[in-house]
This record gives sequence, structure tokens and C-alpha cells, in this order.
Amino acid sequence: MKKIVLIGLVSGVMGSAFADNVNVDFPQGYKDWKHIKTMLIKPEHPMGDVFHGIHHIYANEKAYNGYKTGKFEDGSVIALDFLNYADINASISETSRIYVATMVKNEKKYKTTHGWGYEAFKGNSEEKLVTNVYNMCVKCHEPQEKNNYIFSTIRK
Ligand code: HEC
Repeated sequence: MKKIVLIGLVSGVMGSAFADNVNVDFPQGYKDWKHIKTMLIKPEHPMGDVFHGIHHIYANEKAYNGYKTGKFEDGSVIALDFLNYADINASISETSRIYVATMVKNEKKYKTTHGWGYEAFKGNSEEKLVTNVYNMCVKCHEPQEKNNYIFSTIRK
């Protein structure tokens, strides 16, 4: 009996670690997807210390459909392309890539994070950056529960 409890516990712990930060693929081809919006976050913004930069949000077909209907089916993928910028001669241009963040919808696979898998990939590489998915991503998206954990909306 004791043994069974222990095994249950160990696999439980491993299960949550597994759900934490593996198995979210790089959003291949995202630059060809539908562009949802762009935002420039200045250093003085409340999130400026972490998100100072310019970002573009893209949705694959399923996610685009989700933005329109409010229902994101499994296979919906959203990519956030996050770049530095240069403010020169009264114009702002994007420069080097900071990371590409992604959210992937799969109710079953990402059950512990409300049906969305989260990951961020460093610069122009596919090196994963998320070490604690709850603290680094989920916590801040949670208040958007009524909006499928998504902040952005399609521009009018
Ligand atoms: C401090 C809060 C915060 C944290 C932490 C955070 N996000 Fe977001 N995220 C936002 C906000 C706000 C937006 C909307 C930006 C916009 O409207 O342009 C957003 C947008 C997104 C989008 C586009 C879909 C949407 O919700 O609009 C993706 C994809 C995304 N974040 C992934 C991530 C990933 C992956 C992580 C963890 C590495 C993460 N986010 C951490 C606040 C956060």
C-alpha cells in the first residue's frame, strides 16, 4: 500500500514537471500567418522592465478563427514576435529579435495550464527560455480567463 502511494506521488510530481515546460513546438512559419496587431512598449510602461520592445502578434488559421468566434479549437497557435527597436530621426524601426513567444491550444495536453501550452524561444534560435511556465507566463494570462486567456483582439 505504502509503495503504491509513493509511486503515485512520484509520477504526480513528474507529471507536473512534464506539463511545465516541455513539448511546446516553435511556431514554424508564423511570419506567413494572419497579423493580429502590433504594440510598442516603452521603458516607462508598467511592464516596461520585462517587455520593453516592439511586438507583432500572429495567428494560424485555427487561432484566427478563434479570434473571430471566441472559440479556440485544438491546434490553434498564436505567435508573438518580440523585437528591439531604434528611435532615430523621429522614426521607430524594429531591430534585433529578443524572442518569439507562443501559445498552443490543446485542452488535454496542456490541461494544467488551462488548455494552452506556453513557450518562448531566444532571439533567432529555437532555444527554449521558459523554466517555470506558471510564474513566467500563465500567472499573468490567468485574469483573461473569460477571454480564453488571450489579451489581444483583432483590429477593427
Ligand atoms: C506581465 C504579464 C505577462 C506575462 C508574464 C506574459 N504575458 Fe503574454 N501577453 C501579455 C499581454 C498584456 C499581452 C497582449 C499584448 C498586446 O495586446 O499586444 C500578451 C500577449 C501574448 C500572446 C499573444 C496572445 C494574447 O494573449 O494576446 C502570446 C502568444 C503570449 N503573450 C505568450 C506569452 C508567453 C509564452 C509568456 C511566458 C514566456 C507570456 N506571454 C508572459 C502579458 C503577459
